[in-house]
Amino acid sequence: MAEPLRIALAGLGTVGAGVIRLIETNAALIARRAGRPLQIVGISARDRSKKRGVDLSPYAWEDDMVILGERPDVDVVVELVGGSDGPALACARTTIEAGKALVTANKAMIAHHGLELAAKAEAARVALKFEAAVAGGIPVIKGLREGAAANAIERVYGILNGTCNFILSSMEDSGRDFADVLAEAQARGYAEADPTFDVEGIDAAHKLSILAAIAFGSEVDFAAVDTAGIARLRAADIAQADSLGYVIRLIGMAEPDSSSGEARLFQRVQPHLVPFDHPLAHVDGATNAVVAEGNFSGRLLFQGAGAGDGPTASAVVADLIDIARGEIGAPFSVPVTELEKLAPAESGHRRGRCYVRFVVADRPGVLAEITAAMRDAGVSIESLIQQGRADANGEVMVAMVTHEGPESAVSEALRLLEGSPSLTDAPLVMHILGE
Ligand SMILES: NC(=O)c1ccc[n+]([C@@H]2O[C@H](COP(=O)([O-])OP(=O)(O)OC[C@H]3O[C@@H](n4cnc5c(N)ncnc54)[C@H](OP(=O)(O)O)[C@@H]3O)[C@@H](O)[C@H]2O)c1
Repeated sequence: MAEPLRIALAGLGTVGAGVIRLIETNAALIARRAGRPLQIVGISARDRSKKRGVDLSPYAWEDDMVILGERPDVDVVVELVGGSDGPALACARTTIEAGKALVTANKAMIAHHGLELAAKAEAARVALKFEAAVAGGIPVIKGLREGAAANAIERVYGILNGTCNFILSSMEDSGRDFADVLAEAQARGYAEADPTFDVEGIDAAHKLSILAAIAFGSEVDFAAVDTAGIARLRAADIAQADSLGYVIRLIGMAEPDSSSGEARLFQRVQPHLVPFDHPLAHVDGATNAVVAEGNFSGRLLFQGAGAGDGPTASAVVADLIDIARGEIGAPFSVPVTELEKLAPAESGHRRGRCYVRFVVADRPGVLAEITAAMRDAGVSIESLIQQGRADANGEVMVAMVTHEGPESAVSEALRLLEGSPSLTDAPLVMHILGE
């Protein structure tokens, strides 16, 4: 058999230990498919004495992971440390500059520094692969780069954060409020101690910006993602959405937009109302799903585990098998110098239907004030639900679904209501996922 592909692992946490287990368990079939064995020759993490549930004794320990890529006996470094900058980025840069391939699961680093790293990798003619960075075990990057490569992608969207989806599904099942479900998710290890990146939509935005670059051949533009999370959702929003025929899901969506006369890119992460009959309405728990609409393929749905040691290791090792086969390719499908630089699209002209929720003081005339603002802004209301009785704070919730219209009209209505003493909380707007 041919020479082994010699691998160094930086980071031995959930994913790193999973990669070792997978490479050991499936060694023979991987070697047959790759045409050569995968051989781990070096490992590094912070704490050498930590128990990791795998036997590390066969592998040479390196205290400083940044130098792994410079070792002459290493062909590829797998970065599984995390963080957009710091040691992960230093390790990635050193590895590529040393002319070695890099595999990473680090969406934050690719969202922020993917273009720089890809340019370096292309100049050095080495592979840079990050299948595990988007939607964990789902081969969506490969699906877009290879399976859908013949299509113009018209839209890409999906459920990109398992923690949020787990929380939303649990709120749906139990009728409990966000904070309550988040605390339980943290206690059970489904959510980080600091859940900000997940619940504020940042993690989903990292992944969306990477997907958009691959789908549309454009530069990664994480800063342009219009991002909102799920922390403001109440149990009552879920119940009201349900009574109207929807579930609530955190959706990341990207599509080209030429309404201004020039090519732009629209990118948004926000909780959406998803109709019961849409495939994404049935994606529950920590599962992820991505929909890509190709101009010849039609709608493609990729679904599976978005995280966890096994699924994420599966994506990492698939990248290693590609490298063992000699597959390099441009990291973003198109060489960095040919990626388009698309300006962010404005959202005001976009048309759609929205769910708008107000928390208001329980007194006469408030509903009339809200509906007047909607009318004056040209928003047409399709249905309206008002909670019957005030809660202990003397507040009631008013929720409405609008007819299709420009998003700018809803923004204008909210502007007209700004500062109104009738509103006791900022209004919450969620878009309704269209066909
Ligand atoms: N977990 C998932 O399901 C999942 C899914 C998709 C993508 N990812 C991505 O995969 C990457 C790894 O995630 P993970 O869940 O495996 O993380 P993790 O369990 O926290 O493991 C991180 C590893 O990095 C090491 N490390 C951290 N800081 C270090 C430093 N300054 N110097 C040297 N080593 C350091 C840690 O060492 P010690 O163990 O010695 O502390 C640990 O082994 C992240 O980019 C994450 O976003 C994870």
